[in-house]
Amino acid sequence: MAHIVTPWEVKGTIDYDRLVQEFGIIKLTSADLKRIERITGELHPYLTRGIFFAHRDLKWCLDEYEKGNKFFLYTGCGPSGPIHLGHLGVWRFTKWLQDAFGAEVWFQFTDDEKFLFKDLSYEEVQKWTHENMLDVIALGFDPKKTHFLIDTMHAGIMYPEAIKVAKKITFSTIKAAFGFTDSNNIGSIFYTSMQTVPVFLPNVLRHEKKPCLIPLAVDQDPHFRISRDVVEKLGHHKPAILHSVFMPPLVGMEGKMSSSDPDKAVLTTDDPATVKKKINKYAFSGGQATIEEHRRKGGNPDVDIAYQWLRYFEFDDQKLKKIHDDYKSGTLLSGELKAILIGKINEFLAEHQKKRKQAEKIVDKFLN
Ligand code: TYM
Repeated sequence: MAHIVTPWEVKGTIDYDRLVQEFGIIKLTSADLKRIERITGELHPYLTRGIFFAHRDLKWCLDEYEKGNKFFLYTGCGPSGPIHLGHLGVWRFTKWLQDAFGAEVWFQFTDDEKFLFKDLSYEEVQKWTHENMLDVIALGFDPKKTHFLIDTMHAGIMYPEAIKVAKKITFSTIKAAFGFTDSNNIGSIFYTSMQTVPVFLPNVLRHEKKPCLIPLAVDQDPHFRISRDVVEKLGHHKPAILHSVFMPPLVGMEGKMSSSDPDKAVLTTDDPATVKKKINKYAFSGGQATIEEHRRKGGNPDVDIAYQWLRYFEFDDQKLKKIHDDYKSGTLLSGELKAILIGKINEFLAEHQKKRKQAEKIVDKFLN
């Protein structure tokens, strides 16, 4: 099945090379990675493993950084349900960028978006906004350098800028980009303006002109393809972007993990028994039908979800390689591979859930 990738729908087997063409984004090269490593002294495994695979204007952003014009980071969350491990990939990487480059983070919670696009009440979206903020805080963002923007709460500073953006985007541009029709509600047509504002809001508030770097998964790129032209017309820099692939759902490599189907995702609030049950029951295996056959032929890590997910959680390259090779040769069985993943995720979630509880006390620090 041909892929579909929009901010609201991701389907099929994603052909990332084709996406690069379709979206007009640029693949990260080993020279790009070397340059990042030269500046930061280390590389995050999500870069070396190709999980972050493409960019827009990264070279310019790093040129400015080296000239002393440091970028700020901007990313976000659409609060429509619980957080799953797929979201965490982008945000853990953002936190690494914050530490590695000493950058400020502007984190947008698009409660307006989720109210307008989903069958959820305003109150339900507010509840998810609060819950989702706890997950973001639990990842360890520096409260002194991290600012949350909740679209409805911060409308007073965002709306004057959003209308400036909106005035430069026509309905036909939005229709062409997202396939909207006359039956889409008028709020959804306006929405891209709100997601554009944080690209330059910090500069407006501080009378500065710093570059903005946006880490995201590639489904969010279509908004910024529109924004990049518009913000330039408004006298701001185009944002630079780093694009991640999708963490696949439990059931196989098609589409993306999503919280609308909790059996196909692991949520940050799942307890150890639930994690174990979900992975053992649903994780698509690249192993053979019988143990004998597996020992003889070996498994296929490229389609095995337990292995694919381990790439997000086992940061030790040597350990990961041994697991890969042992699985491929048939030494490691599918059940054993799943057990390694379950251990790794439960270890991560135990810590995350502890920090998530503590986050309740410091939410205000991020909202000023
Ligand atoms: P949302 O809440 O759908 O997703 C939040 C971030 O997680 C990424 N993501 C994934 N990454 C890897 N694998 C997955 N399975 C997966 N599912 C989701 C998304 O690409 C996103 O980066 N409209 C946005 C919120 C937003 C935003 C932004 C995102 C506002 N401003 C700037 C990125 C950058 C949304 O609903 O994201």
